[in-house]
Amino acid sequence: MRLDKFLANSGIGTRKEVKAILKSGKIKVNEKIVKDGKMQIDEIKDDIKMEGEKIAYKPFVYVMMNKPSGIISATEDGKHKTVVDLLCEKYKNYKVFPVGRLDIDTEGLILLTNDGILAHNLLSPKKHVDKKYYVELKEPLTPEKKKILENGIKLEENFVTKEAKVEIIEKTELKSVFITISEGKFHQVKRMFKFIGNEVLYLKRVKMGKLLLPEKLKLGEYRELTEEEMKLILN
Ligand code: URA
Repeated sequence: MRLDKFLANSGIGTRKEVKAILKSGKIKVNEKIVKDGKMQIDEIKDDIKMEGEKIAYKPFVYVMMNKPSGIISATEDGKHKTVVDLLCEKYKNYKVFPVGRLDIDTEGLILLTNDGILAHNLLSPKKHVDKKYYVELKEPLTPEKKKILENGIKLEENFVTKEAKVEIIEKTELKSVFITISEGKFHQVKRMFKFIGNEVLYLKRVKMGKLLLPEKLKLGEYRELTEEEMKLILN
């Protein structure tokens, strides 16, 4: 891999900043100062240091974002901004992609990574990773309708939703709920509520597996997962 790519991917700065750092002679490869970012290095075997400190190779990156409405959960789109467009260059260099999809008008937790295996494990229907959503509804949710949602709905010819968990938020006159589902069919939550004669007015994902959307993370903000959070999604 090129030295400049390795450095940018290690989080020491943007490609432009990396160029300046190299120029200033702060980078040593196997104890020799290297200023040429085009140099090919072996990211596992070579000893790369910045001002004497070893730079560890980090092949994967895991970022959580609070997706705003109006943004597509894809890497590229001809018309709309994507979640990847919102990221700074450092993460774009890692060629991250969103793990699963949220509708354009859905907000909340989305994970971005370049780790295909992790993405597969989180999305695989066999793994039953729970997704929890906060939902605002047009009509109050009656206990009878709640039961129907929880027991499973035939959304398509060959698809009945698995057991869901619904928690009604009483103080909102039964018009806000949390729903937890383990699948991720296209528009699944909206279609489930439509089936019972209701309508989703606002949808936000608040949890994926054991990973919670932190309250501090505002719409459009993102950050790398902490080590603790990494353990939650890798288990
Ligand atoms: N269900 C939906 O209907 N939309 C989403 O964005 C996610 C789940």
